[in-house]
Amino acid sequence: MDQFVINGGCPLEGEVTISGAKNAVLPILAATVLGSGQSVINNVPQLHDVKVMKEVLNNLGARVQGDSDQIMVDTSALDCCEIPESLMRKMRATVFLMGPLIARFGKVKISQPGGCSIGSRPIDLHLKGLKALGVEFKQRHGALEGSVDKLVGAEIHLDFPSVGATENIMMAATKAKGETLIYNAAKEPEIIDLQNYLNRLGAKVRGAGTNVIKVKGVEELNAVDYQVIPDRIEAGTFLVAAAITKGNVLIKDIIPEHIEAVAAKLTEAGIEMKVDHNQIEVIGKETWQGINIKTLPYPGLPTDMQAQLMSFLSLAEDTSIITENIFENRLSHADELRRMGAKIRIEGNTAIVNGVDKLYGTIVRATDLRAGAALVLAGLGAEGETVVDNIYHIDRGYEYLEDKLTKLGADIIRKTDLSITDAD
Ligand code: EPZ
Repeated sequence: MDQFVINGGCPLEGEVTISGAKNAVLPILAATVLGSGQSVINNVPQLHDVKVMKEVLNNLGARVQGDSDQIMVDTSALDCCEIPESLMRKMRATVFLMGPLIARFGKVKISQPGGCSIGSRPIDLHLKGLKALGVEFKQRHGALEGSVDKLVGAEIHLDFPSVGATENIMMAATKAKGETLIYNAAKEPEIIDLQNYLNRLGAKVRGAGTNVIKVKGVEELNAVDYQVIPDRIEAGTFLVAAAITKGNVLIKDIIPEHIEAVAAKLTEAGIEMKVDHNQIEVIGKETWQGINIKTLPYPGLPTDMQAQLMSFLSLAEDTSIITENIFENRLSHADELRRMGAKIRIEGNTAIVNGVDKLYGTIVRATDLRAGAALVLAGLGAEGETVVDNIYHIDRGYEYLEDKLTKLGADIIRKTDLSITDAD
């Protein structure tokens, strides 16, 4: 299993360019199934999850080419609507293919996606929305089979503004008869990016970014070239990396409004930032204040930045209260931070973080993608050597993380240690 070995204490200095957004490119790659022909997707990050999505599309009969930040996907010869369990298990975001496959073939077969370390990750809202469009589902030997003669537009009220459910329903509705309204839709920037891609395919989607999305069904969709938005969570992660190392970093090729909530919290803690139209400069400080954080759906503080901010606030002058409102089990990184000397008490879905003067390097283990990133940040801000194990979690969502950090002056190397297994 690969590990990162980090020697902390180096203030990060210089410039970093942010890659394309993982959580935009995955639904957009799924949406290529809706059209026929070759789409060229640009600004694609080289991530494990993107590799898996390409494998899934190939498995469905699409022709996928390109290993750089450009992917060509030709779905003309798509001839399968089943996703094998082996691929579903590799990445639960394959669930985004339900809507497009049903819209194209009138049926889909997937294995029930499992949960992960941050929560049970149910898909009841996805199924509720697709059923409202006329899809019938059957459970068979752990597989979920959906079928419909013709999708028909409907009014759908989401109990929670689920990102994935909003995206799945949007994609299915593009080829439903009539009009679909999605109320209490998720408003994340990745939803707007998906709407823009779908409309370039010839769909008629309006309202993404608000809590009501309207989709007018069309008969045919084609294929187009498209550029994916920058990754706001990677950008936020580098904001925190600069702040926790008291460095001075220019974070480029971003959309600042997408990480307004994160920048506002860092400002509240006393960090200085200069915001330009497509970049933010962080001017780190020697000390920072504790703050209170509640994760919320966009435009609130993103749950995907909670772990990284916990690392940062572990070194604040006083106490912070962090409440995780999106996932039921997304505070496990606190255990690993405590092993580095952090003083964190968990009460239900809340972490009380009493800032300490120093964190100390030791061996820690990534339990999920963002927890892994948080431990790298803690290692950068700690005294001594930190070994972060299980970094395959990190490779799922960060492109060339160690290279980007090294260019900023961090002392971090990747070590492939074949002797360590993932035995818990
Ligand atoms: C997307 O996951 C992101 N993943 C997640 O990013 C992100 O944390 C999450 O949105 C919230 O912003 C991708 O886009 C690939 P949800 P998704 O449906 O769609 C509950 C990362 O680190 N829920 O908005 O799965 C669910 O259990 C990843 O990049 C239901 O109850 O998130 C959770 O508590 C992690 N029933 C809450 O809603 C459903 O049918 C939010 O989930 C669906 C969701």
